[in-house]
Amino acid sequence: MEFWLAPLHGITNFHFRNCLNRHVKNLSVAVTPFLPVGATSQINVRRWVDVAPENNRSGEVIPQLIGNEPTHFVDTIRELQKLGYQRFNWNIGCPAAQVVRKQRGCGIMPHPERVEAVVRLVTQETDCCFSIKMRLGLKSPEEGLAILERLQPYPLDFVAVHPRLGVQQYEGKPDFSMFRRMYETTGQNLVYSGDIFDLSSYQYLVDHFPKVRQVMLGRGILRNPFLAEELTTGQMLSDGERTERFAAFYADYIQTMQAARGEHGTLSILKELWHYFAHFCQLSPEALQELLRITDFKEFNERAGKYIG
Ligand SMILES: Cc1cc2nc3c(=O)[nH]c(=O)nc-3n(C[C@H](O)[C@H](O)[C@H](O)COP(=O)(O)O)c2cc1C
Repeated sequence: MEFWLAPLHGITNFHFRNCLNRHVKNLSVAVTPFLPVGATSQINVRRWVDVAPENNRSGEVIPQLIGNEPTHFVDTIRELQKLGYQRFNWNIGCPAAQVVRKQRGCGIMPHPERVEAVVRLVTQETDCCFSIKMRLGLKSPEEGLAILERLQPYPLDFVAVHPRLGVQQYEGKPDFSMFRRMYETTGQNLVYSGDIFDLSSYQYLVDHFPKVRQVMLGRGILRNPFLAEELTTGQMLSDGERTERFAAFYADYIQTMQAARGEHGTLSILKELWHYFAHFCQLSPEALQELLRITDFKEFNERAGKYIG
């Protein structure tokens, strides 16, 4: 099995990815958070720091694109190919209201003909490896099935599926019965994404979907940065090793972010991350709330340092 880092907008930027690669093994590929496509005259990909080659020297990176205008995909891909990229992923799963409203992200899933139009033009006009990351649908799982049927003639790099509906956001559980219908009907290489948090959720996937060869880990990596290693060996790290390695990862990340974003920018992203790190450090909900109330960077770090051990 290959473990990939899932895109998490606002979190898994190049600073995070590079830091992770310095401390964690077995994450072979990272898909970037989404970048908006545009016509050649509208975009300047050399300003996109998240995909700048000098910022992405560790591990394979697949730029993720968002949009719905076929020619914009061709233009943007050609520009990014000049930076050396050959693989591109299209986000048709983002459920954010402002994205969906513009028929982008998951908002395009009820329109399989529009999805096909993008894929058709990209495969005709470019020589890149193109893939899609989607949900089951926006409102109905029939939407995703219709898209897969339409895309059958196009040899995609992969189709990553997060088996929830857009309207669910992150509520409920992944719908494995609908994922099975996709798994059994499509000829595309399915990459799985969703709620792989520990050995047992991973084992369920392996036992029930043995043809899946790549799994994206998103929130699971935030809850436990060493998850891919543990899933590979089938064993959890010892308590001592977990604490020591997490402390090293955390210190490196803070230092990197502080240099890049300053104290204020770092504090706001740390507050988002601690919702997940709280799980790793076994913080009670009350302790987490107390931590999140702190507004001073130094005080926050002192308190967080105590929880890390
Ligand atoms: C904060 C956050 C940001 C996300 N940003 C993106 C994104 O930019 N592109 C994308 O395709 N999916 C995005 N996702 C979805 C994840 O990549 C993933 O498919 C989903 O969280 C389920 O997997 P997980 O349970 O391993 O996190 C995001 C999810 C979260 C929670």
